[in-house]
Amino acid sequence: MKVINICGARPNFMKIAPLMRAFAQRPEIDARIVHTGQHYDDAMSRSFFDDLHIPRPDINLEVGSASHAVQTGLIMQRFEPVVLEEKPDAVLVVGDVNSTIACGLVAAKLQVPLIHVEAGLRSFDRTMPEEVNRVLTDAISELLFVTEPAGVENLLHEGVAREKIHLVGNVMIDTLLAHREMAEKSDVLERLKLSPQKYGVLTLHRPSNVDDPRVLAGILDALQEIQAETPLVFPVHPRTRGNLERSGLAGRLAAMPGMRIIDPLGYLDFLKLMSRAAVVLTDSGGIQEETTVLGVPCLTLRANTERPVTAEHGTNQVVGMSPERILAAYRRVQAGKVTPRVPELWDGRAAERIAEIMVRWHVVGRTAPP
Ligand code: UD1
Repeated sequence: MKVINICGARPNFMKIAPLMRAFAQRPEIDARIVHTGQHYDDAMSRSFFDDLHIPRPDINLEVGSASHAVQTGLIMQRFEPVVLEEKPDAVLVVGDVNSTIACGLVAAKLQVPLIHVEAGLRSFDRTMPEEVNRVLTDAISELLFVTEPAGVENLLHEGVAREKIHLVGNVMIDTLLAHREMAEKSDVLERLKLSPQKYGVLTLHRPSNVDDPRVLAGILDALQEIQAETPLVFPVHPRTRGNLERSGLAGRLAAMPGMRIIDPLGYLDFLKLMSRAAVVLTDSGGIQEETTVLGVPCLTLRANTERPVTAEHGTNQVVGMSPERILAAYRRVQAGKVTPRVPELWDGRAAERIAEIMVRWHVVGRTAPP
């Protein structure tokens, strides 16, 4: 079974890594990697291949950054000849980035079965570009691998046939558990002169938070107060760096004495940094899941989450963007310890389950005589 595996943007790499390891254990699966080039800086891409020992991509489409339409269109144009040439039995996409829907559409139009890992998540917020990518990718997928029960419900509600849906756990957590010990060896705390539990970690990159200077300024109001009590380490995403500079807010941030502004970190350093933090403030999807497993309190600076299990069982509080609510949630974290429950099947074996189901599906579903 020849499978082309797509990755393009930073959060894809930790999802592809365990899949490639699981596929390497299965002689039935011939796995190739296509990197779309959506992310291309060493810090946003290559460092993850190194840290996570992901095989080098077989093909890089080198699309780079552009508007949604241009980026999606360019990926499609460059991926179509690859599928025609390689004639895969399936194309596998992960997550919800533009590379996911672009390659998914190419596969579906060429009638190559599409496999979606991390299917079914819904924020029910169509202003979020990822939500559009999720809904559309799921609608054209043949096999849908889901991380949490709400995802199964969402897909059934949208009319996806039950036999296509598999609750398998979370490949991002496979990567976290497989690298926890290695991350312990990171000296990131020493390098940044931090003491365990005495600092917070901040990440921000959603367009809804960083593209509008008024929203960004409101978030900075809350951060201003928090950093005065708890120093915050802020590895800045390139999108955010650009917006901070353009909006003139970079100076205000730099003037906060407790704010440590640094370049994006590699996987192992960031895992170690999160694992010792007193609190994490973020608008990332994956970090809500990772903090749940690490048992570190997480404040999600968004109006909603597509990962409700992290708030129901985990350490996550979805607090929105208003300074008052962010501060109130921060006070709740200071006041009490949460005792998170790790969600069902987030046990480090999701990729193995996926490989097993894919092999069975290929043999029974597609190649057996009618
Ligand atoms: C993308 C994903 C988002 C994901 C995020 C993780 C979509 C719609 N969005 O958002 O879901 O959470 O990745 O990082 O697919 N840039 C660089 N170097 C790079 C890549 C980007 O400098 O290697 C800069 C460019 O100025 C670019 C901007 O970052 O214009 C945004 O990159 P883009 O890939 O468009 O979206 P992200 O905000 O990274």
